[in-house]
Amino acid sequence: MAIRKIYQIGDDTLRQISKPVTEFDEKLSVLIDDMIDTLIYADGAGLAAPQIGVLKRIFVATFDGGSTVIEAVNPVIVKAKGRRVAPEGCLSIPNVRDKVERPRHVVVHAFDRHGEPIELKADGFEASCFCHEIDHLDGILFTDRAESIKKAR
Ligand code: NI
Repeated sequence: MAIRKIYQIGDDTLRQISKPVTEFDEKLSVLIDDMIDTLIYADGAGLAAPQIGVLKRIFVATFDGGSTVIEAVNPVIVKAKGRRVAPEGCLSIPNVRDKVERPRHVVVHAFDRHGEPIELKADGFEASCFCHEIDHLDGILFTDRAESIKKAR
């Protein structure tokens, strides 16, 4: 287990499209553990693999003050309902918070570290978090979707 460096906005790595995970091996397990350590150390809600420079489709999230830890490999949003506008931040964009519109409810299909399929249902803050992290896997940052930026365009 290790704390990894979090890549910051301006680094081209954050703009790449991540590749699906194909090997559910010990290396993946170590990577996910490192992501969880890094997320908790940085005191964030979610972290996607490209944020530590690994272009693989994985995110981790933690809610309820660390008592809930979620890991999702190859996540896909299979259902999105409603709309919600709320402020977001990102560990790769320090000192910036801005309002983003996201679905109010989402259902995400993914795999755990052993390759077992999982279904994640989320509302409100957690739904926004999942969408934010999945965006990272496609090189999208929340500032791309932020309300103030949309208005300025
Ligand atoms: Ni982020």
